[in-house]
Amino acid sequence: MMMRFWTLLLSSPAATSYAISGRAACPSYSQYATQIHQPLSAGKYQLSSMRPEQTCRKFTVPEVENAIDDMKSLVKDPDLFRLFENTFPNTLDTTISWKGFANNGTEEELTFVTTGDIIAMWLRDSANQLRSYKSFLKTNTSTDSLASLFRGAINLQARYIIQNPYCNAFQAPPESGLPPEHNSASDTDVVTPKYSSDFVFECKYELDSISAFLQLSWDYYEKTQDAKFFGKFKWIEAVKTILDVADSLLVGTYADDGSVNTSPYTFQRTTTRVTETLSNDGIGNPVKSGTGLVRSAFRPSDDSTIYQLFIPANMQFSSYLGKCADIMRIHDGDLAKKMSKFAKSVRDGINKYGKVKHATFGEIYAFEIDGFGSSNLMDDANVPSLLSAPILDFLDASDKTYQNTRKFVLSTWNPYYMHGPVINGTGGPHVGPGKAWPMSVITALLTSNDDSEIVAGLHTLISSTAGFGLIHESVDTFDASKWTRQWFSWANGLFGEMLLGLKDRKPDVLATSFQ
Ligand SMILES: *[C@@H]1O[C@H](CO)[C@@H](O)[C@H](O)[C@H]1NC(C)=O
Ligand SMILES: *[C@@H]1O[C@H](CO)[C@@H](O)[C@H](O)[C@H]1NC(C)=O
Ligand SMILES: *[C@@H]1O[C@H](CO)[C@@H](O)[C@H](O)[C@H]1NC(C)=O
Repeated sequence: MMMRFWTLLLSSPAATSYAISGRAACPSYSQYATQIHQPLSAGKYQLSSMRPEQTCRKFTVPEVENAIDDMKSLVKDPDLFRLFENTFPNTLDTTISWKGFANNGTEEELTFVTTGDIIAMWLRDSANQLRSYKSFLKTNTSTDSLASLFRGAINLQARYIIQNPYCNAFQAPPESGLPPEHNSASDTDVVTPKYSSDFVFECKYELDSISAFLQLSWDYYEKTQDAKFFGKFKWIEAVKTILDVADSLLVGTYADDGSVNTSPYTFQRTTTRVTETLSNDGIGNPVKSGTGLVRSAFRPSDDSTIYQLFIPANMQFSSYLGKCADIMRIHDGDLAKKMSKFAKSVRDGINKYGKVKHATFGEIYAFEIDGFGSSNLMDDANVPSLLSAPILDFLDASDKTYQNTRKFVLSTWNPYYMHGPVINGTGGPHVGPGKAWPMSVITALLTSNDDSEIVAGLHTLISSTAGFGLIHESVDTFDASKWTRQWFSWANGLFGEMLLGLKDRKPDVLATSFQ
Protein backbone atom coordinates (compact mmCIF):
# COMPACT_ATOMS: atom_id res chain seq x y z
CA MET A 1 0.00 0.00 0.00
CA MET A 2 2.72 2.43 1.03
CA MET A 3 4.61 1.78 -2.16
CA ARG A 4 1.58 2.37 -4.28
CA PHE A 5 0.76 5.61 -2.56
CA TRP A 6 4.29 6.81 -3.05
CA THR A 7 4.40 6.08 -6.75
CA LEU A 8 1.09 7.83 -7.26
CA LEU A 9 2.39 10.95 -5.62
CA LEU A 10 5.86 11.12 -7.09
CA SER A 11 5.47 9.86 -10.60
CA SER A 12 2.13 11.49 -11.12
CA PRO A 13 1.40 11.32 -14.83
CA ALA A 14 1.12 15.05 -14.94
CA ALA A 15 4.80 15.43 -14.27
CA THR A 16 5.94 14.61 -17.80
CA SER A 17 3.53 16.62 -19.86
CA TYR A 18 1.80 19.19 -17.75
CA ALA A 19 3.16 21.31 -15.03
CA ILE A 20 0.26 21.68 -12.68
CA SER A 21 1.32 22.93 -9.32
CA GLY A 22 -0.27 21.54 -6.23
CA ARG A 23 -1.01 18.17 -7.83
CA ALA A 24 0.81 16.29 -5.07
CA ALA A 25 -1.76 17.59 -2.59
CA CYS A 26 -4.70 16.22 -4.56
CA PRO A 27 -6.63 13.46 -2.82
CA SER A 28 -7.00 10.10 -4.50
CA TYR A 29 -10.33 10.16 -6.33
CA SER A 30 -10.96 6.56 -5.25
CA GLN A 31 -11.21 7.94 -1.73
CA TYR A 32 -12.80 11.25 -2.68
CA ALA A 33 -15.71 9.48 -4.42
CA THR A 34 -16.62 7.58 -1.26
CA GLN A 35 -17.10 10.76 0.76
CA ILE A 36 -19.82 13.43 0.66
CA HIS A 37 -18.62 16.93 -0.24
CA GLN A 38 -20.35 20.29 0.29
CA PRO A 39 -22.21 22.09 -1.03
CA LEU A 40 -25.02 19.57 -1.49
CA SER A 41 -27.56 20.11 -4.27
CA ALA A 42 -30.61 22.08 -3.20
CA GLY A 43 -33.15 19.39 -4.10
CA LYS A 44 -34.60 16.59 -2.03
CA TYR A 45 -31.83 14.10 -2.91
CA GLN A 46 -29.10 16.43 -1.59
CA LEU A 47 -26.40 15.16 -3.91
CA SER A 48 -22.74 15.64 -3.06
CA SER A 49 -20.41 17.87 -5.07
CA MET A 50 -18.01 15.48 -6.76
CA ARG A 51 -15.81 17.47 -9.12
CA PRO A 52 -12.21 17.57 -7.93
CA GLU A 53 -10.92 21.04 -7.05
CA GLN A 54 -9.87 23.00 -10.09
CA THR A 55 -6.14 22.48 -9.63
CA CYS A 56 -6.69 18.74 -9.30
CA ARG A 57 -8.55 18.26 -12.59
CA LYS A 58 -6.41 16.32 -15.02
CA PHE A 59 -7.61 17.88 -18.26
CA THR A 60 -10.03 20.67 -19.02
CA VAL A 61 -11.38 22.04 -22.28
CA PRO A 62 -13.51 25.15 -22.71
CA GLU A 63 -16.21 23.26 -24.69
CA VAL A 64 -17.07 21.02 -21.75
CA GLU A 65 -17.00 23.84 -19.19
CA ASN A 66 -19.29 25.88 -21.47
CA ALA A 67 -21.66 22.93 -21.86
CA ILE A 68 -21.97 22.67 -18.10
CA ASP A 69 -22.80 26.39 -17.85
CA ASP A 70 -25.26 26.04 -20.67
CA MET A 71 -27.07 23.12 -19.08
CA LYS A 72 -27.38 25.03 -15.84
CA SER A 73 -30.01 27.28 -17.39
CA LEU A 74 -31.85 24.43 -19.12
CA VAL A 75 -31.95 21.74 -16.42
CA LYS A 76 -34.36 23.10 -13.86
CA ASP A 77 -34.13 20.34 -11.26
CA PRO A 78 -31.20 20.99 -8.87
CA ASP A 79 -30.49 17.28 -8.29
CA LEU A 80 -30.55 16.43 -11.98
CA PHE A 81 -28.21 19.32 -12.75
CA ARG A 82 -25.84 18.28 -9.96
CA LEU A 83 -25.67 14.75 -11.33
CA PHE A 84 -24.78 16.18 -14.75
CA GLU A 85 -22.20 18.59 -13.36
CA ASN A 86 -20.48 15.78 -11.44
CA THR A 87 -20.57 13.11 -14.10
CA PHE A 88 -20.15 14.72 -17.50
CA PRO A 89 -16.60 16.03 -16.95
CA ASN A 90 -15.56 12.97 -14.90
CA THR A 91 -13.39 11.38 -17.61
CA LEU A 92 -11.50 14.62 -18.23
CA ASP A 93 -11.33 15.55 -14.55
CA THR A 94 -10.10 12.22 -13.26
CA THR A 95 -8.95 9.68 -15.88
CA ILE A 96 -6.64 11.38 -18.37
CA SER A 97 -3.81 9.81 -16.44
CA TRP A 98 -1.05 10.72 -18.86
CA LYS A 99 -0.74 12.52 -22.15
CA GLY A 100 2.45 12.85 -24.13
CA PHE A 101 4.29 11.70 -27.22
CA ALA A 102 5.63 8.39 -28.46
CA ASN A 103 9.35 7.98 -27.74
CA ASN A 104 9.18 11.16 -25.66
CA GLY A 105 9.49 13.31 -28.74
CA THR A 106 7.90 12.52 -32.11
CA GLU A 107 4.62 14.08 -33.19
CA GLU A 108 2.74 10.85 -32.42
CA GLU A 109 0.41 11.88 -29.58
CA LEU A 110 -0.48 9.31 -26.90
CA THR A 111 -3.32 9.49 -24.36
CA PHE A 112 -3.53 7.05 -21.48
CA VAL A 113 -7.17 7.03 -20.34
CA THR A 114 -7.75 4.96 -17.22
CA THR A 115 -11.07 3.40 -16.40
CA GLY A 116 -11.56 5.01 -12.97
CA ASP A 117 -10.81 2.99 -9.87
CA ILE A 118 -8.34 0.74 -11.75
CA ILE A 119 -5.17 2.27 -13.20
CA ALA A 120 -5.33 0.56 -16.58
CA MET A 121 -6.72 1.45 -20.00
CA TRP A 122 -9.52 -0.73 -21.34
CA LEU A 123 -9.98 -0.47 -25.11
CA ARG A 124 -13.77 -0.47 -24.64
CA ASP A 125 -14.00 1.90 -21.71
CA SER A 126 -11.58 4.46 -23.09
CA ALA A 127 -13.31 4.57 -26.49
CA ASN A 128 -16.64 5.15 -24.77
CA GLN A 129 -15.25 7.55 -22.17
CA LEU A 130 -14.08 9.82 -24.99
CA ARG A 131 -17.28 9.28 -26.98
CA SER A 132 -19.22 11.23 -24.37
CA TYR A 133 -17.46 14.38 -25.70
CA LYS A 134 -17.98 13.56 -29.36
CA SER A 135 -20.57 16.26 -29.91
CA PHE A 136 -17.93 18.93 -29.16
CA LEU A 137 -15.16 17.36 -31.20
CA LYS A 138 -13.85 19.39 -34.12
CA THR A 139 -10.62 19.80 -36.04
CA ASN A 140 -7.94 21.19 -33.74
CA THR A 141 -4.18 20.67 -33.94
CA SER A 142 -3.52 21.93 -30.40
CA THR A 143 -2.27 19.30 -27.96
CA ASP A 144 -4.61 20.82 -25.36
CA SER A 145 -7.70 20.02 -27.42
CA LEU A 146 -10.32 17.30 -27.35
CA ALA A 147 -9.15 16.33 -30.84
CA SER A 148 -5.69 15.68 -29.45
CA LEU A 149 -7.11 13.44 -26.72
CA PHE A 150 -8.84 11.37 -29.39
CA ARG A 151 -5.73 11.18 -31.59
CA GLY A 152 -3.61 10.14 -28.63
CA ALA A 153 -6.06 7.42 -27.62
CA ILE A 154 -6.28 6.11 -31.20
CA ASN A 155 -2.46 5.98 -31.44
CA LEU A 156 -2.06 4.22 -28.11
CA GLN A 157 -4.87 1.75 -28.82
CA ALA A 158 -3.27 0.99 -32.21
CA ARG A 159 -0.01 0.20 -30.45
CA TYR A 160 -1.78 -2.03 -27.91
CA ILE A 161 -3.67 -3.92 -30.61
CA ILE A 162 -0.60 -4.52 -32.76
CA GLN A 163 1.33 -5.86 -29.76
CA ASN A 164 -1.44 -7.88 -28.06
CA PRO A 165 -4.54 -8.09 -30.25
CA TYR A 166 -6.38 -10.52 -27.96
CA CYS A 167 -6.11 -8.44 -24.80
CA ASN A 168 -8.68 -6.09 -23.30
CA ALA A 169 -6.87 -3.89 -20.75
CA PHE A 170 -3.43 -2.34 -20.83
CA GLN A 171 -0.68 -0.73 -18.80
CA ALA A 172 0.57 2.83 -19.11
CA PRO A 173 2.98 3.29 -22.02
CA PRO A 174 6.67 3.21 -21.02
CA GLU A 175 7.04 6.85 -22.11
CA SER A 176 4.83 7.86 -19.20
CA GLY A 177 7.31 6.58 -16.66
CA LEU A 178 4.32 5.13 -14.78
CA PRO A 179 5.00 1.68 -13.36
CA PRO A 180 2.85 -1.26 -14.51
CA GLU A 181 -0.02 -2.04 -12.12
CA HIS A 182 -0.19 -5.50 -10.62
CA ASN A 183 -3.48 -7.24 -11.45
CA SER A 184 -3.83 -9.88 -8.76
CA ALA A 185 -6.97 -11.28 -10.43
CA SER A 186 -4.83 -12.45 -13.33
CA ASP A 187 -2.05 -14.10 -11.31
CA THR A 188 -3.13 -17.61 -12.27
CA ASP A 189 -4.09 -16.86 -15.88
CA VAL A 190 -2.76 -19.20 -18.54
CA VAL A 191 -3.30 -17.56 -21.92
CA THR A 192 -2.26 -18.23 -25.49
CA PRO A 193 -0.83 -16.21 -27.16
CA LYS A 194 1.45 -15.28 -24.24
CA TYR A 195 1.81 -11.67 -23.16
CA SER A 196 3.91 -9.63 -20.77
CA SER A 197 2.27 -8.01 -17.76
CA ASP A 198 4.63 -5.06 -18.26
CA PHE A 199 2.33 -4.06 -21.12
CA VAL A 200 -0.93 -5.88 -20.50
CA PHE A 201 -3.20 -5.57 -17.47
CA GLU A 202 -5.58 -8.35 -18.48
CA CYS A 203 -5.89 -10.52 -21.56
CA LYS A 204 -9.49 -11.52 -22.10
CA TYR A 205 -10.29 -11.67 -25.79
CA GLU A 206 -13.48 -9.72 -26.44
CA LEU A 207 -14.62 -8.86 -29.94
CA ASP A 208 -15.94 -5.59 -28.59
CA SER A 209 -12.40 -4.46 -27.61
CA ILE A 210 -11.13 -4.36 -31.18
CA SER A 211 -14.51 -3.04 -32.32
CA ALA A 212 -14.14 -0.20 -29.82
CA PHE A 213 -10.95 0.89 -31.62
CA LEU A 214 -12.90 1.08 -34.88
CA GLN A 215 -15.70 2.98 -33.12
CA LEU A 216 -13.22 5.49 -31.65
CA SER A 217 -11.57 5.91 -35.06
CA TRP A 218 -14.92 6.55 -36.69
CA ASP A 219 -15.98 9.01 -34.01
CA TYR A 220 -12.84 11.07 -34.59
CA TYR A 221 -13.11 10.92 -38.36
CA GLU A 222 -16.80 11.68 -38.52
CA LYS A 223 -16.36 14.94 -36.63
CA THR A 224 -13.01 16.09 -38.07
CA GLN A 225 -12.78 14.48 -41.55
CA ASP A 226 -9.07 14.25 -40.74
CA ALA A 227 -8.35 11.25 -42.99
CA LYS A 228 -4.64 12.16 -43.26
CA PHE A 229 -4.06 11.47 -39.58
CA PHE A 230 -4.92 7.81 -40.10
CA GLY A 231 -2.06 7.39 -42.58
CA LYS A 232 0.59 8.93 -40.33
CA PHE A 233 1.25 6.40 -37.60
CA LYS A 234 0.15 2.82 -36.89
CA TRP A 235 -3.57 2.92 -37.67
CA ILE A 236 -3.45 0.96 -40.93
CA GLU A 237 -1.29 -1.74 -39.36
CA ALA A 238 -3.72 -1.98 -36.43
CA VAL A 239 -6.67 -2.43 -38.81
CA LYS A 240 -4.76 -5.18 -40.65
CA THR A 241 -4.13 -6.87 -37.31
CA ILE A 242 -7.83 -6.65 -36.45
CA LEU A 243 -8.78 -8.20 -39.79
CA ASP A 244 -6.35 -11.08 -39.23
CA VAL A 245 -7.66 -11.69 -35.71
CA ALA A 246 -11.31 -11.56 -36.77
CA ASP A 247 -10.58 -13.77 -39.75
CA SER A 248 -8.98 -16.44 -37.57
CA LEU A 249 -12.03 -16.34 -35.28
CA LEU A 250 -14.51 -17.09 -38.05
CA VAL A 251 -13.27 -20.65 -37.77
CA GLY A 252 -15.38 -23.08 -35.74
CA THR A 253 -14.27 -25.76 -33.32
CA TYR A 254 -14.16 -28.64 -35.80
CA ALA A 255 -12.53 -28.96 -39.21
CA ASP A 256 -14.41 -30.63 -42.09
CA ASP A 257 -12.49 -33.90 -41.60
CA GLY A 258 -13.64 -34.07 -37.95
CA SER A 259 -10.38 -32.97 -36.36
CA VAL A 260 -10.38 -30.23 -33.77
CA ASN A 261 -9.09 -26.89 -35.06
CA THR A 262 -6.34 -25.22 -33.07
CA SER A 263 -7.89 -22.24 -31.35
CA PRO A 264 -5.93 -19.03 -31.96
CA TYR A 265 -6.76 -17.98 -28.37
CA THR A 266 -7.16 -19.90 -25.12
CA PHE A 267 -7.69 -18.64 -21.58
CA GLN A 268 -7.76 -20.41 -18.21
CA ARG A 269 -7.95 -18.94 -14.73
CA THR A 270 -8.00 -20.67 -11.36
CA THR A 271 -11.27 -19.36 -9.96
CA THR A 272 -14.52 -20.28 -8.23
CA ARG A 273 -16.48 -18.08 -10.65
CA VAL A 274 -17.61 -19.92 -13.77
CA THR A 275 -17.70 -16.66 -15.78
CA GLU A 276 -13.98 -16.05 -15.17
CA THR A 277 -12.62 -18.94 -17.20
CA LEU A 278 -13.34 -20.93 -20.37
CA SER A 279 -14.59 -24.49 -20.61
CA ASN A 280 -12.87 -27.26 -22.57
CA ASP A 281 -9.43 -26.40 -21.24
CA GLY A 282 -9.56 -22.81 -22.33
CA ILE A 283 -11.20 -22.89 -25.77
CA GLY A 284 -14.83 -22.42 -24.68
CA ASN A 285 -17.96 -24.27 -25.78
CA PRO A 286 -18.00 -25.62 -29.36
CA VAL A 287 -18.88 -23.24 -32.18
CA LYS A 288 -19.96 -24.21 -35.69
CA SER A 289 -18.10 -22.82 -38.70
CA GLY A 290 -19.80 -21.06 -41.55
CA THR A 291 -22.14 -18.52 -39.93
CA GLY A 292 -19.98 -15.54 -40.92
CA LEU A 293 -20.00 -14.43 -37.27
CA VAL A 294 -16.81 -13.71 -35.33
CA ARG A 295 -16.18 -15.54 -32.04
CA SER A 296 -15.78 -13.72 -28.74
CA ALA A 297 -14.39 -15.53 -25.70
CA PHE A 298 -15.61 -12.84 -23.30
CA ARG A 299 -18.38 -10.26 -23.13
CA PRO A 300 -18.04 -6.50 -22.53
CA SER A 301 -18.67 -7.26 -18.86
CA ASP A 302 -15.37 -9.24 -18.96
CA ASP A 303 -17.40 -12.40 -18.20
CA SER A 304 -16.97 -15.39 -20.47
CA THR A 305 -19.54 -16.05 -23.15
CA ILE A 306 -21.67 -19.19 -22.98
CA TYR A 307 -21.91 -19.31 -26.78
CA GLN A 308 -19.08 -17.49 -28.50
CA LEU A 309 -21.06 -16.04 -31.38
CA PHE A 310 -21.93 -13.00 -29.31
CA ILE A 311 -24.40 -10.92 -31.30
CA PRO A 312 -24.00 -7.39 -29.80
CA ALA A 313 -20.22 -7.31 -30.45
CA ASN A 314 -20.79 -8.64 -33.97
CA MET A 315 -23.22 -5.74 -34.50
CA GLN A 316 -20.61 -3.26 -33.28
CA PHE A 317 -17.83 -4.84 -35.32
CA SER A 318 -19.88 -4.91 -38.52
CA SER A 319 -21.07 -1.35 -38.01
CA TYR A 320 -17.71 0.35 -37.44
CA LEU A 321 -15.64 -1.87 -39.72
CA GLY A 322 -17.96 -0.82 -42.54
CA LYS A 323 -17.74 2.86 -41.58
CA CYS A 324 -13.95 2.79 -41.20
CA ALA A 325 -13.68 1.49 -44.78
CA ASP A 326 -14.42 5.12 -45.73
CA ILE A 327 -11.28 6.23 -43.90
CA MET A 328 -9.20 3.43 -45.40
CA ARG A 329 -10.29 4.19 -48.96
CA ILE A 330 -7.92 7.15 -49.35
CA HIS A 331 -5.00 5.12 -48.03
CA ASP A 332 -5.52 1.62 -49.41
CA GLY A 333 -8.42 0.90 -51.74
CA ASP A 334 -8.08 -2.89 -51.66
CA LEU A 335 -8.04 -3.01 -47.91
CA ALA A 336 -11.10 -0.73 -47.81
CA LYS A 337 -12.95 -3.18 -50.07
CA LYS A 338 -11.97 -6.07 -47.85
CA MET A 339 -13.32 -4.19 -44.82
CA SER A 340 -16.66 -3.43 -46.48
CA LYS A 341 -17.03 -7.02 -47.61
CA PHE A 342 -16.23 -8.39 -44.16
CA ALA A 343 -18.65 -5.94 -42.51
CA LYS A 344 -21.40 -7.07 -44.85
CA SER A 345 -20.80 -10.78 -44.29
CA VAL A 346 -21.01 -10.26 -40.52
CA ARG A 347 -24.27 -8.33 -40.96
CA ASP A 348 -25.62 -11.14 -43.15
CA GLY A 349 -24.64 -13.64 -40.45
CA ILE A 350 -26.53 -11.66 -37.81
CA ASN A 351 -29.63 -11.45 -39.99
CA LYS A 352 -29.53 -15.14 -40.90
CA TYR A 353 -28.48 -16.76 -37.61
CA GLY A 354 -28.82 -14.11 -34.92
CA LYS A 355 -32.62 -13.87 -34.82
CA VAL A 356 -34.88 -16.31 -33.01
CA LYS A 357 -38.58 -16.64 -32.44
CA HIS A 358 -39.78 -15.97 -28.92
CA ALA A 359 -43.21 -17.24 -27.86
CA THR A 360 -44.16 -13.93 -26.21
CA PHE A 361 -42.27 -11.28 -28.19
CA GLY A 362 -42.07 -12.71 -31.72
CA GLU A 363 -38.79 -12.35 -33.62
CA ILE A 364 -35.97 -11.04 -31.41
CA TYR A 365 -32.18 -10.89 -31.56
CA ALA A 366 -30.38 -13.60 -29.59
CA PHE A 367 -27.66 -12.50 -27.18
CA GLU A 368 -25.38 -15.41 -28.11
CA ILE A 369 -25.59 -18.38 -30.44
CA ASP A 370 -23.32 -21.36 -31.13
CA GLY A 371 -24.24 -21.93 -34.78
CA PHE A 372 -25.48 -25.46 -34.03
CA GLY A 373 -28.95 -24.17 -33.14
CA SER A 374 -28.56 -23.20 -29.50
CA SER A 375 -29.04 -19.64 -28.36
CA ASN A 376 -28.85 -17.70 -25.14
CA LEU A 377 -31.73 -15.25 -24.73
CA MET A 378 -30.81 -12.52 -22.27
CA ASP A 379 -29.20 -9.09 -22.18
CA ASP A 380 -26.42 -7.70 -20.00
CA ALA A 381 -26.06 -4.04 -19.01
CA ASN A 382 -22.62 -3.51 -20.55
CA VAL A 383 -22.45 -1.91 -23.99
CA PRO A 384 -22.41 -3.43 -26.58
CA SER A 385 -25.67 -5.02 -25.48
CA LEU A 386 -28.78 -5.84 -27.47
CA LEU A 387 -30.48 -2.81 -25.95
CA SER A 388 -27.68 -0.59 -27.29
CA ALA A 389 -27.94 -1.72 -30.96
CA PRO A 390 -29.11 1.73 -32.17
CA ILE A 391 -26.25 3.56 -30.43
CA LEU A 392 -23.82 1.14 -32.08
CA ASP A 393 -25.15 2.64 -35.32
CA PHE A 394 -26.04 -0.88 -36.42
CA LEU A 395 -29.76 -0.32 -36.86
CA ASP A 396 -32.44 2.26 -36.32
CA ALA A 397 -34.45 2.08 -33.12
CA SER A 398 -37.61 1.72 -35.23
CA ASP A 399 -36.42 -1.69 -36.51
CA LYS A 400 -39.21 -4.17 -35.74
CA THR A 401 -36.94 -6.95 -34.48
CA TYR A 402 -35.11 -4.42 -32.30
CA GLN A 403 -38.39 -3.16 -30.81
CA ASN A 404 -39.43 -6.72 -29.95
CA THR A 405 -35.97 -7.34 -28.47
CA ARG A 406 -36.16 -4.14 -26.44
CA LYS A 407 -39.49 -5.19 -24.90
CA PHE A 408 -38.01 -8.57 -24.08
CA VAL A 409 -34.84 -7.08 -22.55
CA LEU A 410 -36.83 -4.72 -20.32
CA SER A 411 -39.14 -7.45 -19.07
CA THR A 412 -38.90 -10.21 -16.52
CA TRP A 413 -38.41 -12.65 -19.43
CA ASN A 414 -34.80 -11.45 -19.54
CA PRO A 415 -33.02 -13.56 -16.92
CA TYR A 416 -30.83 -10.58 -16.00
CA TYR A 417 -33.59 -7.97 -15.69
CA MET A 418 -33.85 -6.85 -12.07
CA HIS A 419 -36.64 -4.88 -10.51
CA GLY A 420 -37.55 -3.44 -7.15
CA PRO A 421 -38.51 -0.17 -5.48
CA VAL A 422 -35.11 1.48 -6.07
CA ILE A 423 -34.17 0.74 -9.67
CA ASN A 424 -35.40 -1.36 -12.60
CA GLY A 425 -32.96 -2.40 -15.29
CA THR A 426 -30.64 -5.07 -16.55
CA GLY A 427 -27.61 -6.32 -14.68
CA GLY A 428 -25.53 -9.38 -15.42
CA PRO A 429 -23.48 -12.18 -13.93
CA HIS A 430 -20.51 -9.84 -13.35
CA VAL A 431 -22.06 -8.52 -10.15
CA GLY A 432 -24.92 -11.02 -10.01
CA PRO A 433 -28.68 -11.20 -9.49
CA GLY A 434 -30.39 -8.47 -7.47
CA LYS A 435 -28.19 -5.65 -8.76
CA ALA A 436 -29.39 -3.52 -11.66
CA TRP A 437 -26.87 -1.39 -13.53
CA PRO A 438 -27.64 2.31 -14.01
CA MET A 439 -25.80 1.95 -17.35
CA SER A 440 -28.73 -0.09 -18.63
CA VAL A 441 -31.21 2.59 -17.53
CA ILE A 442 -29.12 5.19 -19.38
CA THR A 443 -29.00 2.99 -22.48
CA ALA A 444 -32.77 2.58 -22.31
CA LEU A 445 -33.15 6.37 -22.29
CA LEU A 446 -30.67 6.82 -25.14
CA THR A 447 -32.81 4.49 -27.25
CA SER A 448 -36.23 5.80 -26.17
CA ASN A 449 -38.48 8.37 -27.74
CA ASP A 450 -41.13 8.07 -25.04
CA ASP A 451 -41.24 11.08 -22.69
CA SER A 452 -42.77 9.20 -19.78
CA GLU A 453 -40.15 6.42 -20.01
CA ILE A 454 -37.40 9.06 -20.10
CA VAL A 455 -38.76 11.01 -17.13
CA ALA A 456 -39.18 7.82 -15.07
CA GLY A 457 -35.64 6.72 -15.93
CA LEU A 458 -34.15 10.11 -14.99
CA HIS A 459 -36.01 9.93 -11.69
CA THR A 460 -34.55 6.48 -11.02
CA LEU A 461 -31.05 7.72 -11.81
CA ILE A 462 -31.09 10.78 -9.55
CA SER A 463 -32.71 8.89 -6.68
CA SER A 464 -30.40 5.85 -6.69
CA THR A 465 -26.91 7.28 -6.09
CA ALA A 466 -27.10 7.05 -2.28
CA GLY A 467 -26.40 10.78 -2.18
CA PHE A 468 -23.02 10.53 -3.90
CA GLY A 469 -24.14 12.07 -7.16
CA LEU A 470 -22.11 9.71 -9.31
CA ILE A 471 -23.27 6.81 -11.47
CA HIS A 472 -22.40 3.55 -9.78
CA GLU A 473 -21.71 0.30 -11.58
CA SER A 474 -24.63 -1.56 -10.00
CA VAL A 475 -27.26 -0.79 -7.37
CA ASP A 476 -29.26 -3.21 -5.25
CA THR A 477 -32.86 -2.98 -6.49
CA PHE A 478 -34.10 -2.84 -2.87
CA ASP A 479 -31.41 -0.73 -1.21
CA ALA A 480 -29.61 2.23 -2.83
CA SER A 481 -26.91 2.16 -0.14
CA LYS A 482 -25.68 -1.17 -1.55
CA TRP A 483 -23.80 -0.35 -4.74
CA THR A 484 -20.57 -1.33 -6.51
CA ARG A 485 -17.73 0.87 -7.86
CA GLN A 486 -17.59 4.42 -6.57
CA TRP A 487 -15.59 5.59 -9.61
CA PHE A 488 -16.74 4.15 -12.93
CA SER A 489 -15.90 6.85 -15.40
CA TRP A 490 -17.54 5.36 -18.50
CA ALA A 491 -20.96 5.18 -16.82
CA ASN A 492 -20.58 8.77 -15.65
CA GLY A 493 -19.79 9.95 -19.16
CA LEU A 494 -22.66 7.98 -20.64
CA PHE A 495 -25.09 9.70 -18.31
CA GLY A 496 -23.75 13.11 -19.36
CA GLU A 497 -23.93 12.20 -23.03
CA MET A 498 -27.53 11.03 -22.62
CA LEU A 499 -28.64 14.21 -20.82
CA LEU A 500 -26.84 16.43 -23.32
CA GLY A 501 -28.61 14.57 -26.12
CA LEU A 502 -31.98 15.41 -24.55
CA LYS A 503 -31.15 19.09 -24.97
CA ASP A 504 -31.74 18.68 -28.70
CA ARG A 505 -34.17 15.77 -28.70
CA LYS A 506 -36.42 16.59 -25.75
CA PRO A 507 -35.78 20.08 -24.37
CA ASP A 508 -39.08 19.99 -22.43
CA VAL A 509 -38.01 16.89 -20.53
CA LEU A 510 -34.89 18.71 -19.30
CA ALA A 511 -37.17 21.19 -17.52
CA THR A 512 -38.91 18.45 -15.47
CA SER A 513 -38.92 18.83 -11.69
CA PHE A 514 -38.26 15.70 -9.63
CA GLN A 515 -38.95 17.34 -6.28
C1 LIG B 1 -8.40 24.22 -29.88
O1 LIG B 1 -8.32 23.67 -28.58
C2 LIG B 1 -7.85 24.61 -27.61
C3 LIG B 1 -7.67 23.83 -26.30
O2 LIG B 1 -8.86 23.18 -25.91
C4 LIG B 1 -8.83 25.75 -27.49
O3 LIG B 1 -8.37 26.69 -26.54
C5 LIG B 1 -9.00 26.40 -28.84
O4 LIG B 1 -10.00 27.38 -28.75
C6 LIG B 1 -9.37 25.38 -29.90
N1 LIG B 1 -9.35 25.98 -31.19
C7 LIG B 1 -10.42 25.98 -31.97
C8 LIG B 1 -10.23 26.63 -33.31
O5 LIG B 1 -11.49 25.51 -31.67
C1 LIG C 1 10.34 8.79 -21.35
O1 LIG C 1 10.46 9.41 -20.11
C2 LIG C 1 10.13 8.62 -19.00
C3 LIG C 1 10.16 9.43 -17.72
O2 LIG C 1 10.53 10.74 -17.91
C4 LIG C 1 11.08 7.46 -18.89
O3 LIG C 1 10.73 6.64 -17.80
C5 LIG C 1 10.96 6.69 -20.16
O4 LIG C 1 11.87 5.65 -20.15
C6 LIG C 1 11.20 7.56 -21.37
N1 LIG C 1 10.88 6.79 -22.53
C7 LIG C 1 11.59 6.81 -23.63
C8 LIG C 1 11.10 5.90 -24.72
O5 LIG C 1 12.56 7.50 -23.78
C1 LIG D 1 -40.12 -1.27 -11.16
O1 LIG D 1 -41.20 -1.90 -11.80
C2 LIG D 1 -42.25 -2.25 -10.90
C3 LIG D 1 -43.27 -3.00 -11.71
O2 LIG D 1 -42.73 -4.20 -12.12
C4 LIG D 1 -42.83 -1.01 -10.27
O3 LIG D 1 -43.80 -1.36 -9.31
C5 LIG D 1 -41.73 -0.24 -9.57
O4 LIG D 1 -42.21 1.00 -9.10
C6 LIG D 1 -40.59 0.02 -10.53
N1 LIG D 1 -39.50 0.63 -9.81
C7 LIG D 1 -38.94 1.78 -10.22
C8 LIG D 1 -37.78 2.25 -9.42
O5 LIG D 1 -39.34 2.41 -11.16
